[in-house]
Amino acid sequence: MFKGRDIVSIKELSKSDMERIFEVAREMIPVARGEQKSELLRGYILANLFFEPSTRTRMSFEAAMLRLGGSVLGFSNPSSTSLSKGETLADTIRMFDSYSDVIVIRHPYEGSARLAAEFAEHPVINAGDGAGQHPTQTLLDIFTIVQEFGDVQGLKIALIGDLKYGRTVHSLAYALSKLGAELYFVSPPLLKMPLHILRELKGNYTETEKIEDIVSEVDVFYVTRIQKERFPDPTEYRKVAGTYAIDARLLQAAKKNAIVMHPLPRVNEIKVEVDKLPQARYFKQAFYGVPVRMALLSLVLGVV
Ligand code: NCD
Repeated sequence: MFKGRDIVSIKELSKSDMERIFEVAREMIPVARGEQKSELLRGYILANLFFEPSTRTRMSFEAAMLRLGGSVLGFSNPSSTSLSKGETLADTIRMFDSYSDVIVIRHPYEGSARLAAEFAEHPVINAGDGAGQHPTQTLLDIFTIVQEFGDVQGLKIALIGDLKYGRTVHSLAYALSKLGAELYFVSPPLLKMPLHILRELKGNYTETEKIEDIVSEVDVFYVTRIQKERFPDPTEYRKVAGTYAIDARLLQAAKKNAIVMHPLPRVNEIKVEVDKLPQARYFKQAFYGVPVRMALLSLVLGVV
């Protein structure tokens, strides 16, 4: 049952929950493309509360709601709200809870979405809490993999780049491990996957620093941006900036049907020349954010 549920951590979703979300998402694809019209969420209001920059996540939640006939309010610049007068997060949430039917929140602090869920009566969806979790990104990432390969079980999946501060890879590692993927973590020593996450993965992973070690083995390259804004010290960032750059030459050594994914935005970890190669999936992946979020909104609002 989804009605009224908060989506704060990917750990709270079972395999069958994910399958249900994907089943609804598949039906939503023609609506997401604008080929079919829907009024499923007419009369419902989404509050989109973005305390941190966002392009895809905010816009795809908005597109999802609008494509289903619903409405959206919210902000992308918290300095334009009473937060700048000193209002607490809890009070802000209480207000939006009374103006809307479902709340999406992105915030720089880990735990912020959990706090919001405690104060709101309506469902709260975590759109990224600091270096914590980003469960809806994980859902669209896994949806992309399932659409490509049919199943996650047994696939070899490399998470590459900033595994320390990247919240997308934190959520994704839990979910992929639960679904039976074989994981490879590729990062510089400074940016390794945090121990508290590794401990929960039951040893089903391999860590390395070099992409070359795994390039010919993996089915999915999941590349991430080095999270510059989360480094306490800019000199530390300079040490690791530009560590990885996926290019056409590297991919020549990859399996024929391997795919390259990225939650986006990319800076320079995937060269533009890769965009036109058959392995590139990151723009399709970003599109899938719309049907997956349509499915999630419809499920927590209890209309499907
Ligand atoms: C990611 C995020 O905000 O965590 N972006 C996204 O939602 N697609 C990744 C990133 O910022 O690098």
